[in-house]
Amino acid sequence: MTVNAPARPALRFGTLELSSPVLIAPMVGITDAPCRELALEFGAGLVSTEMVAAEAVVRSVDASLHLLDFPSGMGPAGAQLVGCDPSVMADAAQVCVERGAVTVDVNLGCPVRKVVGRGSGAALARDVPATAAVLRAMVDAVTVPVTAKMRLGWDTGSINAPEVARALADVGVSAITVHGRTRCQGYAGDADWAQIARVKEAVDIPVIGSGDVEAVDLIVKRIRSGVVDGVVIARGMLGNFWMIRQATHLLATGERLDDLDFATRMALCRRHLDMLIAYHGEQRALRIGRKYVAWTIKGCNGAARLRAMVQDLDSLDMLDTIFDCALSAGLGPQGWFRPVFTSGEG
Ligand SMILES: Cc1cc2nc3c(=O)[nH]c(=O)nc-3n(C[C@H](O)[C@H](O)[C@H](O)COP(=O)(O)O)c2cc1C
Repeated sequence: MTVNAPARPALRFGTLELSSPVLIAPMVGITDAPCRELALEFGAGLVSTEMVAAEAVVRSVDASLHLLDFPSGMGPAGAQLVGCDPSVMADAAQVCVERGAVTVDVNLGCPVRKVVGRGSGAALARDVPATAAVLRAMVDAVTVPVTAKMRLGWDTGSINAPEVARALADVGVSAITVHGRTRCQGYAGDADWAQIARVKEAVDIPVIGSGDVEAVDLIVKRIRSGVVDGVVIARGMLGNFWMIRQATHLLATGERLDDLDFATRMALCRRHLDMLIAYHGEQRALRIGRKYVAWTIKGCNGAARLRAMVQDLDSLDMLDTIFDCALSAGLGPQGWFRPVFTSGEG
């Protein structure tokens, strides 16, 4: 089916032109290089690493540098840093760019105690001059676009996202992503897109919306009506990478693509597992891949028994058995449904 004829939406972060305003959100434990590669293949305009501690980057901690891996030829990928010291953040931003990041984003929304207790993430955004000082140092340190991702404010009584956005635009930040919840809300309740729209009204740089980005029609409506310049998909793509293609295709052509049938969804998951194995090695990939398999078999007949097998997944034989069992069991009467995920670091 075709909806009204679209004009191809353009999105620019400073000097960087993106092919689509549908972007992928940073997600700890999810947005590794294989995930980013799949998302780009399905048309995402920009993908991101998970948040990486700037302190660890400047101390060259191996595990942190490993997260900042930008395989050549993969497509536009940015890095996200978390921290609150301007000079450390500036140095870490330079490392990100040397390693191949095309943008450097700052996490101003992480709600977890360990991060806010150190004055970073959502805690930094409470102090507008301190936040601006961090971003100014980073803008001065690198030539790629520097961006920021924040929540609406600390709590409903202290919403300051428009004020933070204005201060960041003034120091040269190229774009801002706003998750439409406060720090104290965590992941409870609905994201408030009217508040995200207020940030868009406050600044001239692109504003990207985040929060409950799950319905493809709504993504298109919000971008076309100018509520936001783009969106980041986060939990919506878990077990459902195809959603990225559905959204980018609808925006670019006006055509709706059908959902994948169960067998094709399983085949896509298997390909993702193969990519994880090629990147991380078999044992680590099978551990990382358990969640993707569990999300993909949601709604399958006999899913409880299969889930128990997935928890112990540690060999390719077992992976084949799980896929064979799921395919022969088929989808139950409810069909596939989204996994519930009520925590995260942004
Ligand atoms: C597992 C998980 C990990 C996350 N990690 C990050 C992160 O590293 N940096 C960040 O800015 N936001 C992070 N977030 C927040 C998401 O980027 C996004 O803003 C949030 O999930 C709201 O979007 P949604 O409701 O569409 O999922 C994470 C969320 C989840 C669920």
